[in-house]
Amino acid sequence: MRYRQLGSSDLQVSEISLGSWLTYGVGVDAENAAACVHRALDLGINLIDTANIYGRGAAESFLGAVLSGVPRSKYIIATKLFFPMTETDRGLSRAQVEKQLDASLKRLRVDVIDLYQCHRHDPDTSIDETMLALTDAVKAGKVRYLGFSEWPADRVREAMAVGGAEKFVSSQPQYSLLWRQPEREIIPLSRDNGISQIVWSPLAQGVLTGKYAPDAPPPPGTRATSEEMGGWIDRWMQRPVLEAVQRLKPLAAEARLTLGQLALAWVLKEPNVASAIIGASRPAQVEENAAASGAQVDPALFAEAERIVGEALGRA
Ligand SMILES: NC(=O)c1ccc[n+]([C@@H]2O[C@H](COP(=O)([O-])OP(=O)(O)OC[C@H]3O[C@@H](n4cnc5c(N)ncnc54)[C@H](OP(=O)(O)O)[C@@H]3O)[C@@H](O)[C@H]2O)c1
Repeated sequence: MRYRQLGSSDLQVSEISLGSWLTYGVGVDAENAAACVHRALDLGINLIDTANIYGRGAAESFLGAVLSGVPRSKYIIATKLFFPMTETDRGLSRAQVEKQLDASLKRLRVDVIDLYQCHRHDPDTSIDETMLALTDAVKAGKVRYLGFSEWPADRVREAMAVGGAEKFVSSQPQYSLLWRQPEREIIPLSRDNGISQIVWSPLAQGVLTGKYAPDAPPPPGTRATSEEMGGWIDRWMQRPVLEAVQRLKPLAAEARLTLGQLALAWVLKEPNVASAIIGASRPAQVEENAAASGAQVDPALFAEAERIVGEALGRA
């Protein structure tokens, strides 16, 4: 496993990290989920991503239990706040930062959260209130570094201008061969301001592994067939997309990688990406995905992959 510096922080994060959206504490059985986490740590994955909203606390509680026997120096825990935890608990007000942070610390069974991320921006709270509350959390020793996820670039600029506030070190956007939107604004802005990307759904929820054939029903046991986990994958389950993904397979073979590994290596070719956050429903997936770290791929293969996908998305 290779490591990259996370923005202006002193954290060295693994190029492949492990996320827990839909999976741990929710759709994947506890035994498999624990096996995935332990396999990840064994393979040198040190960044684990979660959020208070994943399973409304269940993902954090699961990780807290599984990681309780692991030395704290072996993992970097990243969590998030913003989405509604109850009818009245949502957003990024000072009161919510204080309340949600304490709840996350408790569920995760840690004294400090390494990376505390604002899951979305909060148009109903002043940026000063949010940033100064987060800064106080850092000063109190409850949080080491701050990040944001899917904020508009202007809101990030506003946050950076708050006097006396801690600076963001990470951005968590969706980024994959199928979704390249961060290249427009967020990556250039981040590059200039000590911010790295840790990207979500780098495999487009499994679609970029090539396991969904355009002419066959989704294989049993996959996210697309899951009642608990399949609610967000439809946008990629369209014929032009699935056909294009099949056309990437010879490129992966030429690179001597699986298609999923090629997709992860593509994300990691961007120097501003510090880590690709994968999901995994079984340990073998963690192994396959972790092996994408350090893969050397001919840039001409990446260019061809981009061309194939670009053409297909134009038609999707
Ligand atoms: N900030 C945000 O708003 C946001 C939003 C979404 C996600 N995230 C973060 O990003 C993380 C990753 O998101 P994601 O789960 O969508 O990532 P992903 O890596 O694109 O998809 C993960 C899913 O793909 C399948 N898969 C993974 N590796 C595979 C392999 N080698 N072969 C075959 N299938 C494989 C598995 O599903 P099946 O085996 O069930 O098919 C797995 O659960 C989340 O856990 C979360 O931490 C953040």
